Amino acid sequence: MRPIIPDYLAEVLRDVESDTSGELAGYIPELAAADPERLGAAFAMIDGEVYGAGDIDIEFTIQSISKPFIYALALSDRGFDPVLAKVGVEPSGEAFNEISLESDTGRPLNPMINAGAITVHSLAGTEDLNPTERVERVLHGLSAFAGRRLKMDEAVCASEMEHAHRNLVIAHMLRSHNVLTKDPRAIVDGYTRQCSVLVTTRDLAMMAATLANRGTNPLSGEQVVPEPVVRQVLSVMFSCGMYDAAGDWATQVGIPAKSGVAGGLIGALPGQIGIATFSPRLDGHGNSVRGVSLFERFSSDMGLHVM
Ligand code: DON
Repeated sequence: MRPIIPDYLAEVLRDVESDTSGELAGYIPELAAADPERLGAAFAMIDGEVYGAGDIDIEFTIQSISKPFIYALALSDRGFDPVLAKVGVEPSGEAFNEISLESDTGRPLNPMINAGAITVHSLAGTEDLNPTERVERVLHGLSAFAGRRLKMDEAVCASEMEHAHRNLVIAHMLRSHNVLTKDPRAIVDGYTRQCSVLVTTRDLAMMAATLANRGTNPLSGEQVVPEPVVRQVLSVMFSCGMYDAAGDWATQVGIPAKSGVAGGLIGALPGQIGIATFSPRLDGHGNSVRGVSLFERFSSDMGLHVM
């Protein structure tokens, strides 16, 4: 079966290539300048083999795909109770950049929306870390999931920070509820750095395979986070990873997944495979148009729906 995988991937990419619908992420100027035609897909097996087709070695920023991984780091660095006390696990049914806080506690509904992810960023590493050390913990952790040292795109980060008004509003709301306990601006800066980490489609497939492999990177053999953490993360990806399209995704694709506004998309099937796609044009939910089509094909062609 294995030798035919690259041919299969190339064929599926050809089928979706003509779809030029959707828009680049206009609210981050550096992302709006990306090449919209890029297209790639990769499968990483839990034994470490990677199969791919198209632009799988082009770097782009991880954006919201960082969220499940930093959630995993926070859960493993702080334990479940302190993290769950600050961030819920319920789908918001709203866009990723809505405020979406519980009205009585101010707790963000889940860690996949911006409000939850900004909070989770503040919970990565031990409490005493300064903002620079926290970003280093995040970068080190994302690198461990990928199995290679990753770096940041400073231009994308600066470009997003200049227009980060919504995230700053959200962070100030969180601070007013004492969900954030430190300087909201420094936390948004750190979160934006987290979103600006550069990855390839190959990296993302390997990061997803680390989740599929119950927390152990298939290449390095490093146990990046414990197995109960992975179960929590994949469960929240399943219910909340595709934002207000999570229900459509669960029924039609049925794979725990996470999207990012640079055009990346990952899915992880426990005990089997990590999948990643890259195509920068987005639908109205902020999910890659061709990425969603690719996953629909993979799911139906290979029977990957978990139900
Ligand atoms: O905070 C933001 O808005 C971006 N840095 C990340 C948003 C994102 O990737 C949403 N996902 N599709």
